[in-house]
Amino acid sequence: MDHNVQQDNINICDEYIDEKITPLRPLFAKSALGDFSGILQIPEGKGAVTELYIGIQVMLQVMKDQLAQLRGFNQSLEQKVQDRTEELEEAYRQRQENEQNMKSLQEKFSFIAAHELRSPVTDINIGLSALLESGAVKEPQHITLLKRIQAKNSMLVQLLNDLLDVAGLRGEEKEYKLTKVPLDMLFREVAEEVSSTVKQLGIQITFPTPGNLLSVLAHPRSLKEVLLNLITNAIRYNKKNGSVMVEIESNKAEVIIHVKDSGIGIGRNNIDKLFTQFYRIKEEETKEIDGTGLGLFISKELMRRMHGNIWVESKKGEGSTFSFSLPIYTAP
Ligand SMILES: Nc1ncnc2c1ncn2[C@@H]1O[C@H](COP(=O)(O)OP(=O)(O)OP(=O)(O)O)[C@@H](O)[C@H]1O
Ligand SMILES: [Mg+2]
Repeated sequence: MDHNVQQDNINICDEYIDEKITPLRPLFAKSALGDFSGILQIPEGKGAVTELYIGIQVMLQVMKDQLAQLRGFNQSLEQKVQDRTEELEEAYRQRQENEQNMKSLQEKFSFIAAHELRSPVTDINIGLSALLESGAVKEPQHITLLKRIQAKNSMLVQLLNDLLDVAGLRGEEKEYKLTKVPLDMLFREVAEEVSSTVKQLGIQITFPTPGNLLSVLAHPRSLKEVLLNLITNAIRYNKKNGSVMVEIESNKAEVIIHVKDSGIGIGRNNIDKLFTQFYRIKEEETKEIDGTGLGLFISKELMRRMHGNIWVESKKGEGSTFSFSLPIYTAP
């Protein structure tokens, strides 16, 4: 074959390859970007180019399938991660709630233990000392026994004092100091504490307009606890989309704080027993709500210590108003 013919053949061959390869370029460019949706026009016949085209088409299809699978997998993985995150968040929230409940139960237990047990146990100690000092017991064996009982009893007094320390209620007369408590501050702190619960339950709560509210003479932590107990009840024994209103009223000597709710209300027959320990109303509306029946009992005890009063007015089905009064703080 002469040189020119050979060159011509090469040129024809080049042109042919160019013509067949060129359509592949955009296809490969798209594939490089992760898009395998391109479709090839497979040339007729059974030549090597047709085989190549078929091969490429199959490869594109395989890549497309794999990508779809991968996307599906990724999506389910994302869903799983999201589900798991939600589960963890819920578990965390539950744990915090349980811890909070445990804490308030512990505090109440400490209070009851101290309140109910400390004075009789202390009396036993006083009685034992008097008995030992009187000389009425003469048998050395009996004296030893009494001393041992006294030692155990002192340990019990100590334990109860520790519990009182935990509850912050020890030294009622000596350390239970009444001081100035600005109502602005009290309402701000309490509003903050109940804000997430009211939001969660869709309850509307209002406080007196802040500004120049009076100050009362009280024990800051006890006062906060009383108000929180009443507001928590007003929220929990309420109706769907109910409301809670904290209002104040004052005369020359004292301030009265009212906690009004639009809740389930309390029947006349239950009103008298409300402030006794462990008393809970067992009715259809309240059976799903848990509690210990100590909130109002403790509130009443704290009000007694702060020289205030606490009372309730309520009508079944129409809501309740719990109120308490405290002396106005006057500068010494
Ligand atoms: N605002 C209110 N509306 C209707 N019922 C109430 C209200 N506040 C209290 N009660 C009733 O009085 C009972 C005693 O309330 P109290 O706060 O002493 O205990 P509790 O809420 O049951 O438990 P906790 O010790 O957790 O406060 C409640 O169980 C409830 O039946
Ligand atoms: Mg309560």
